[in-house]
Amino acid sequence: TQAPVNVTVTGAAGQIGYALLFRIASGQLLGQDVPVKLRLLEIPQAVKAAEGTAMELDDGAFPLLAGIDIFDDPKQAFEGTNIALLVGARPRSKGMERGDLLEANGGIFKPQGEAINAGAASDIKVLVVGNPANTNALIAQSHAPDVPADRFTAMTRLDHNRALAQLSKKLGVPVTELKKLAIWGNHSATQYPSVQHAEVGGKPVEVDQAWLESDFIPTVAKRGAAIIEARGLSSAASAASAAIDHVYTWVNGTPEGDWTSAGVVSDGSYGVAEGIISSFPVTAKDGKYEIVQGLEIDDFSRARIDASVAELVEERDTVQKLGLI
Ligand code: NAI
Repeated sequence: TQAPVNVTVTGAAGQIGYALLFRIASGQLLGQDVPVKLRLLEIPQAVKAAEGTAMELDDGAFPLLAGIDIFDDPKQAFEGTNIALLVGARPRSKGMERGDLLEANGGIFKPQGEAINAGAASDIKVLVVGNPANTNALIAQSHAPDVPADRFTAMTRLDHNRALAQLSKKLGVPVTELKKLAIWGNHSATQYPSVQHAEVGGKPVEVDQAWLESDFIPTVAKRGAAIIEARGLSSAASAASAAIDHVYTWVNGTPEGDWTSAGVVSDGSYGVAEGIISSFPVTAKDGKYEIVQGLEIDDFSRARIDASVAELVEERDTVQKLGLI
């Protein structure tokens, strides 16, 4: 049998952690034949709560769960790790400016990037979920110079899945009929969910522009706020589900003739500033995400992509000024 894969989850005692850990333990992250060892990272005040979650994980008697260790030190938590899910982040508190938020998160993602650089396994794959996810991923990546930059990704799969769900409802078809949707740019309200290349049952999707602009795009981009409004808590199970999808696809590949969306380091494709972590349509093969090349971008898409990328460039400039990258 295969040796267990080490999976580090930060923010393990949080809402997303609570939904995510059970799905990892049940084998949904990597597949039904892959044993996993969980390494949970929390801040000292939340270690006890993480221990409670670990007790419940024990009580699941998961056949694929080969062990659980809990840490409050990133150096230890990332030692030998193969997959790192960076979920824990500093939320925006009342009256906090964007710069303050980026600075507070720099205090989390810089040491985590350094710890990954120092001790992670050579095949390390990193998914940043904690917001602002794209720029947090950039901060961590910039402090891991010995790790190939393409091992650092940010999660826009939840936005991708939200877009699939909305389009499926609109067209009255199951999500399995839909292909080639894409999320471009930042995981924020400026993101651009694009149907420009989308297919339904193998044919181009045709929807009217008014619906796209006044319904589809804002519904996908503001779904997080709508969930908080309805549930009284932020989306956690759907975020955990998307994190599972992101890693499963990364490891196992995208189906022929389709793609997904992920925040990856830009190589300058489609005029997206090189080096920032932006969402693109991506395929996965042999354990690598690659940006889909050669797509024609219409004028409407161009303007939307540019606007979201401008926000990411601004975030990058801010963390650069703060000395965080
Ligand atoms: P939560 O507040 O319930 O849990 C966060 C956990 O992180 C807490 O237990 C906290 O103690 C821990 N934490 C804080 N600093 C840490 C550090 N330095 N090291 C380790 N752990 C640390 O939040 P929730 O709902 O689980 O969300 C987590 C993050 O995911 C938030 O930043 C949220 O905005 C983001 N998110 C991202 C989505 C995406 O699509 N990219 C979707 C939904 C949420």
